[in-house]
Amino acid sequence: MSRLITISNRLPISLVRRDERYEYTPSAGGLATGLKSFHGQNDNLWIGWPGMEIGQEEDQREITDRMKKDKMHPVFLTESDIEDFYEGFSNKTLWPLFHYFNLFTDYSPYTWERYVEVNQKFADEIFKVARPDDVFWVHDYQLMLLPALIRERFPHATIGFFLHIPFPSYEMFRSLPWRRELLNGMLGADLIGFHTYDYVRHFLSAVKRILDVDHSLGRIKLGDRVIDVDSFPMGIDYKKFANSIHNPTTIREVVKFRNNFNHEKIILSIDRLDYSKGIYQRLEAYDTFLSDHPEYQKKVALITVVVPSRGNVDQYQKLKVQLDEAIGRINGKYSTPEWTAIHYYYRSLPFETLTALYYCADIALITPFRDGMNLIAKEYVATKTDQQGVLILSEMAGAAKELTEALFINPNDIQGISDALHDALNMPSEEQRTRMQEMQSKVERYDVKNWAELFIDRMYEARSLNTRRREK
Ligand code: G6P
Repeated sequence: MSRLITISNRLPISLVRRDERYEYTPSAGGLATGLKSFHGQNDNLWIGWPGMEIGQEEDQREITDRMKKDKMHPVFLTESDIEDFYEGFSNKTLWPLFHYFNLFTDYSPYTWERYVEVNQKFADEIFKVARPDDVFWVHDYQLMLLPALIRERFPHATIGFFLHIPFPSYEMFRSLPWRRELLNGMLGADLIGFHTYDYVRHFLSAVKRILDVDHSLGRIKLGDRVIDVDSFPMGIDYKKFANSIHNPTTIREVVKFRNNFNHEKIILSIDRLDYSKGIYQRLEAYDTFLSDHPEYQKKVALITVVVPSRGNVDQYQKLKVQLDEAIGRINGKYSTPEWTAIHYYYRSLPFETLTALYYCADIALITPFRDGMNLIAKEYVATKTDQQGVLILSEMAGAAKELTEALFINPNDIQGISDALHDALNMPSEEQRTRMQEMQSKVERYDVKNWAELFIDRMYEARSLNTRRREK
């Protein structure tokens, strides 16, 4: 059996510097959970950036050695790689454009050059440890050129690429001066996956219109290879969330929340700090709701959790200031000595607190302008084992395609979000249960392990198909 080599910009670890040494702990993000059973097998390997600059060669050698036992191989990025490749082209060009924020998009030829160089740097690290018959699974927008770079070196390798963010419509994508290079980079893969069928359509249309390469039912023929393009909606570790309420720490946290909010319905908002998430507009909608329905003042509370992210990128810094200001303004307008309209946490929360919050929340308010999938929506659904609670979800999130029993809103429609809050607060218990049950059965059936298995199986299918074609 060939080895599976997973490549993502970030390794699934958290690295800290303590007492002049670097220490890391494996972190269980969605992808790491999905790949856990595969990663544990054989000599499978995960290649990626440890998440901070490690300047000293000695430290780099030590980290590389230590990571071997966890089947990881680090790619060390310099300060300027981080600035130009990660904060630059990945997060000032691709991220905003793919989320339809074209006015935020920076078209810098310099950071593009650096993106090319750092993709090559990842490839060079791969070639130090990989073999031509390995199966390579490349993840996300930071590494779109990598499939073609691996293909160049290992023409018969099996390569998969999965994009975790939306693939935008052709009209958006075409504005990139480097559109051909990016498509050709992705087309180095045998299998290209997206969360939803819409992103598949957008990609196939861009390939047709930019490269003049056609497809038949999502299969592209390119030279002696076929490339399959399909949707694989990512799931979560359902059981972990559904069972979380049996954890004694979570139970203690639930009791605390219930005591603190015993007169209020909890509306929960959780995101990474990002302009694509529509957090500011969500706050405006809450303001509209409290002003349209003053009878709900003191009867609801909005808990807003914002997880710090990409703090060196201007737009993220501006958003942070905007949110602080809006929360201050709304609290100043409505709060009283006995009641706070918005409870604000700017940090990430431990798993037990997070799941306790999901469990206690009467409403999850998830209103992104664009979102590849949005796993928070699925986590909320999985945790609500009492089947009470309402999910208000943006129709622009990938998850909207599956969680069709949510209350849908258009994130630009402030009044619509405010009305949805009113509807959610008045939804009969039986209706909440029916909707929640339906969504739970979907999230349970197609969890993250199934997602990874399906994608990996399809990579092996692509491998045999392409081998047969070559041998003909
Ligand atoms: C999104 C992207 C991931 C990324 C994550 C966190 O989910 O699709 O590739 O790792 O955000 O962002 P960061 O910039 O901290 O890696």
